Amino acid sequence: MGKFENIDTMLHQALQAIEQANDSAAIENARITILGKSGSFTQLGKILGTLPIEQKKDFGAELNIAKKQIEDKLGAKKEILAEQELNTKLAKETLDVTLPIRDEHQGRIHPVSKIYEEVVAIFGQMGFDIAEGPDIEDQFHNFNALNMPANHPARQMQDTFYIKNPDSDNFDDSYVIRTHTSGIQIRTMEKQQPPIRIIAPGRTYRSDWDATHTPMFHQVEGLVIDKNITMAHLKGCLYDFMKAFFELDDLPVRYRPSYFPFTEPSAEMDIGCLKTKTELKIGAGTDWLEVLGCGMVHPNVLRAGGINPDEYQGFAFGLGIDRLAMLKYGIPDLRTFFESDTRWLKHYGFTPLDFSSMTGGLSNTGGQAR
Ligand code: DAH
Repeated sequence: MGKFENIDTMLHQALQAIEQANDSAAIENARITILGKSGSFTQLGKILGTLPIEQKKDFGAELNIAKKQIEDKLGAKKEILAEQELNTKLAKETLDVTLPIRDEHQGRIHPVSKIYEEVVAIFGQMGFDIAEGPDIEDQFHNFNALNMPANHPARQMQDTFYIKNPDSDNFDDSYVIRTHTSGIQIRTMEKQQPPIRIIAPGRTYRSDWDATHTPMFHQVEGLVIDKNITMAHLKGCLYDFMKAFFELDDLPVRYRPSYFPFTEPSAEMDIGCLKTKTELKIGAGTDWLEVLGCGMVHPNVLRAGGINPDEYQGFAFGLGIDRLAMLKYGIPDLRTFFESDTRWLKHYGFTPLDFSSMTGGLSNTGGQAR
């Protein structure tokens, strides 16, 4: 008990009012009636000026102590109420995750992502791992180690984007944005001894722009290295892949001899189709369409990757994801892939819940928004 009864009474009333407040609006009200401009304690403070000088000091001190008590009580009560209110809100605001989505046709999976998923599903089931490499690559991995030393004519096969090396004025030290995913073959060999069985999907870049070429496009690299690997393994593996991918058991395919510096022998694979002015039908007719490059890994490439070519052999392949998307889903112009036109995506895209799997179906066309 203090010396001043009026302070005691007011304090008692104030603490009671705070105690009784049962939500944040009530506590704010209590604060205003006690400490607000015309609040009880503010009024009490005004008495101070009217008191005889000898009482002033004690009255002031007691008033301050009482005020402090009130403020502490207010703070504590506010905290309790806020927590209570949050708990009630959380209990009320449950989210029903079983509710159907409002418009299942809003978002779309881009055809490139869809093909990517399909390719991964097929090779995944065959036991391939996924490997990765950087988009900004050094010339060793993108060219030299792939049997394409500086000034090799095969470098002219690709219109390369070079990036200056900030630490060197020598052109041979400049970086490239990778022209193909083949450099990931080397990066994988550097990390891992055989047996190797990987695919490496990724973005690739070349200075090119027309209906079937864009400066950025997508490839999947494949690499298998083990003892006694032959061209027969390559043929069987890629044939199985193409049949699964185009969902045709009797897909006609052929291998044509070709040239790539990193494989020997090299080949290109074609699939049978029917081309008319208005239509492209896969699996029928007498026309052929090139779908990938492949070959037996060149001994120089194995050596560059730290693998002994007398002990191990391998095959490799590279295919264009965008090209496969154009073929499989009948999309005529590659440039439209990257224009971010939502009308295009609505037409050619896939619903997000339509997963690609070898058991559930690769490209359930029911899922394609048409
Ligand atoms: N890197 C080649 C390209 O971009 C594609 C390729 C061909 C990859 C043959 C391979 C291969 O692994 O064996 O044109």
